[in-house]
Amino acid sequence: MEKIVSLCKRRGFIFQSSEVYGGLNGFWDYGPLGAELKRNIKESWWRSMTQLRDDVVGLEASIIMHPRIWEASGHTSTFSDLMVDCLLTKKRFRADQVDPQTGIAYFYTGAIDGVSGKESKDAFSTFYEQRGFQNPALQGERSEPTENSIRYNPENGSLLTEPRPFNLMLKTYVGPIESPENMSYLRPETAQAIFAQFKNVLEVARQKVPFGIAQMGKAFRNEINPRNFTFRSREFEQMELEFFIRPDEAVEAIFGNVAKPAGPGHPGEPQPNWGWQIWHQYWVEERLRFYENIGLPRNSLVEYWQKADELAHYARATVDILYKFPFSKRDDKGELAGEELEGIAARSDFDLSQHQRFTGKSMAVFDEELKTAWQKLSPEKQADLRERYGQARSKYLSKSGEPVEKAEKIARDEAEALTKGYYVPHVIEPSAGADRLALALICNAYCEDQAPDDKGKLETRIVMKFHPRIAPVKVAVFPLLKNKPELVNKAKEVRELLRPHMSVFYDEAGAIGRRYRRQDEAGTPFGVTIDFDTLGEQGPELKDTVTVRDRDGMTQQRVRISDLPGLLASKIR
Ligand code: GAP
Repeated sequence: MEKIVSLCKRRGFIFQSSEVYGGLNGFWDYGPLGAELKRNIKESWWRSMTQLRDDVVGLEASIIMHPRIWEASGHTSTFSDLMVDCLLTKKRFRADQVDPQTGIAYFYTGAIDGVSGKESKDAFSTFYEQRGFQNPALQGERSEPTENSIRYNPENGSLLTEPRPFNLMLKTYVGPIESPENMSYLRPETAQAIFAQFKNVLEVARQKVPFGIAQMGKAFRNEINPRNFTFRSREFEQMELEFFIRPDEAVEAIFGNVAKPAGPGHPGEPQPNWGWQIWHQYWVEERLRFYENIGLPRNSLVEYWQKADELAHYARATVDILYKFPFSKRDDKGELAGEELEGIAARSDFDLSQHQRFTGKSMAVFDEELKTAWQKLSPEKQADLRERYGQARSKYLSKSGEPVEKAEKIARDEAEALTKGYYVPHVIEPSAGADRLALALICNAYCEDQAPDDKGKLETRIVMKFHPRIAPVKVAVFPLLKNKPELVNKAKEVRELLRPHMSVFYDEAGAIGRRYRRQDEAGTPFGVTIDFDTLGEQGPELKDTVTVRDRDGMTQQRVRISDLPGLLASKIR
């Protein structure tokens, strides 16, 4: 990881934010190459999620939204981590990140001033000295063995406070007066805007359930311990899809059955009779395909199914896609266990229902097919579906704090509405982080191998093996010599020819081998060299041809200049 962090700074992928002022913990800036990489990641995601599909539309919402949104979503009350403070240094830790300690713990009831004559300057003496004691002598010693305890600071042995919840949302004030009613939050996720705008989008998008709304953009979390380079930051970008589906009862009413996963793997093209489980599986597989498509091999990814006690109370199933980062913990077999890149959650109808309760505005959709199908069902089937749907709604409402009688009344009304074709859609949410993905792609690309220098001597080469689809620069163009105007002019012509189709870097400085080396570190997949053959000096058959060098195989191919845009474009798409 150290080598990767150092390369990121040296080559301008990632810098510490505000570095010239000493940095700001948990904030990062992307340099010239990093900015291109991140843009390519986001464009790939956007393209695959929206432009290449008929059933997903986009949204770009504001970062600061009405504060009630965060009450409805549960973030105000529950979006917190348990934290503990070191009594000695006041340093704050996430309770679940304290390494367990084993040994003897010593406790003291206090200290008295100036009587011990001890020279010791240990942490305890410092603690008391800071409180005005001279040469403190600790009193009332008691000790107890402790095993795998997370009550002590691993850095200095001091007792930690009891765990307390710490809300991760960053606050700000909207307008000129800093009063509680003007307080708002920087969004901790992009998803809620999608739910809040659901009805507006539905009205204009000419879409019917099942369909999705995608959004990417900044999110902010006041993480207690930002760590592992950009992995856990306080400002980051998310790429989220909310894919709205029919409740299973509606699918059953229309199609007579609910299709469930037939086995592992991709279930194929979406079918109208899919229930939530198969939709969930579909999105897990689609997301795995996406990662493979931009160069993360399948064996670097882990599909982790959250256990029942890890699931949010409204979630029916959640799969985390983990990437085996170099800093990941290792499992019992010594294998990298992986860290979360993305979570794909089946969230039932919780989110829209919450906004419906908090705003008093209906989030239900009307489904003509359901209305028509319902009338053809037998009375027994109608009663059965109505009962099941009503029970699910009643369960949600009472869990959300509605008094039992009120919950049952609303649930009965909603079950009645189902019979007329109305329901609150359920949702599958694939939620990914652009910065985590950038870091995974950087870790995955980093390679060291041996390559000949200009004199043919083997040297260690650092090469970033980015997939051409997301590589920051697609092609570098080099004139063989910079003091030959014919070569330089031709090389600039090639640059202009390629520029409309891809990002091009022109470099004429230094020996050709060094120029290749610089592009290897930038991860540029192709290098085009304009030499004397290009000018036709070795014979007319080579005139207007160039060598194209492949970064990974270091193979060279002679290609006509006019064929270059087509050849390269086919490899970067
Ligand atoms: N709407 C669901 C949601 O926000 P999440 O698991 O909290 O779920 C989704 O976040 C993704 O956002 C994560 O899988 C991760 O890629 C990214 N993410 C979350 N917190 C992050 C942080 N502090 N720094 C960088 N990325 C983060």
